[in-house]
Amino acid sequence: MSSMPSADWDPRSPAVLADQRRAYDRMRERCPVAHSDYLQWSVFRHADVLRILHDHATFSSQASSHLSVPNSMDPPEHSAYRAIIERYFTAERMTAFEPVCRAIADELAAVALSGEEVELMGSFAQPFALRIQCAFMGWPLSLQEPLLSWATRNSQATLQRDRTALAALAAEFEELVAGLLAQRRSTEGPAPGVTSELMNERVHGRPLSDGEIASILRNWTVGEVGTIAASVGIIGEFLASHPQVQQQLRDDPSLLWKANDEILRIHGPLVDNRRRTTCPVQIGERQLAADQRVTINWISANRDPDVFADPDQFSLERDPSLNLLYGAGVHVCPGAPLARMELVIIIGKLLEHTSQLALIEDQPPTLASYPSSGFASLPLRLGRR
Ligand code: HEM
Repeated sequence: MSSMPSADWDPRSPAVLADQRRAYDRMRERCPVAHSDYLQWSVFRHADVLRILHDHATFSSQASSHLSVPNSMDPPEHSAYRAIIERYFTAERMTAFEPVCRAIADELAAVALSGEEVELMGSFAQPFALRIQCAFMGWPLSLQEPLLSWATRNSQATLQRDRTALAALAAEFEELVAGLLAQRRSTEGPAPGVTSELMNERVHGRPLSDGEIASILRNWTVGEVGTIAASVGIIGEFLASHPQVQQQLRDDPSLLWKANDEILRIHGPLVDNRRRTTCPVQIGERQLAADQRVTINWISANRDPDVFADPDQFSLERDPSLNLLYGAGVHVCPGAPLARMELVIIIGKLLEHTSQLALIEDQPPTLASYPSSGFASLPLRLGRR
């Protein structure tokens, strides 16, 4: 007889997709470790998520069938690749990249924020994420459109759990990177940008393979294009609907570093990540067998009232070490220094180029749905100085 429990919920039901945050809040209250046919186990409480993050022996990251560097690796294999990746997000690198980031934000703000209204996602958040991605990687701007199309199709295939499409998309990205690598190999002298630098990295005494480089770049692209764009929208919407917080940040933009993390705790830009049990284990009140898929629900964990009293309340007094926005443990986001810098710069520009941000009554924002978070569209009215 199968020991598989019956479903506690359906992560793809219209009610969940219509408002993920509220649906995950309800699950955390009602059934904090929940089984579904689509995801197997989902974990909603902060304490349970932390336990998973710090026990990679029981909760392995080898949860996907394709190579994902370093996301789907466990220590000690993970450590070798992680050491390479961290070198690209040091404080020195961020200081060097900051003027580039600022120039892109300036140029975009001057165009996108010049009218009385803006659809923030399409005109500001997405172009910003795409342009930064191309600049950081040393890729031509002509890649913006293909990258956006790739990221959109990748999201759709993830929702449909369409393995054929996902494999084809991974191959498509690999082909795109193969073209960039071939171009660099045929060019005399060193080409600028991290893509060229990755070609000179060594792991286990040998150069990274083209497949490993493509996988690293794919994970950076997903982090940048999906999550940064979602974050800009979430912060934009929050400021438009919380005029007092907006005023506080206009008065003192140095608060943006803390405020962005707090807003993204209240409304997470990344929904979930996956693990796999390596042995039978009890989590919360549930007994999980070995080789089960476990989904960490970031949005819910960061809204757990056992850790964040009055979770919808914006407060700069909370302990930042409890905020799981960028994860915790060995897989904690290596791109966090870049993400934080980008968000401070772009939200700073949004405030600097306007005197007021407001929602438009008869054009409400449209929420994005799984596997994305944030907004699909966000019309805003812009006050002029
Ligand atoms: C607001 C933006 C971002 C958020 C909220 C975010 C969040 C996260 C979280 C929660 C994890 C942990 C995943 C896990 O434990 O399974 C993670 C991992 C990761 N992130 Fe980010 N991220 C962001 C931006 C970025 C950017 C810009 C990059 C790179 C350019 C990036 C690259 C990565 C990589 C490579 C990993 C895997 C690390 C590992 O497995 O050791 N992220 N991110």
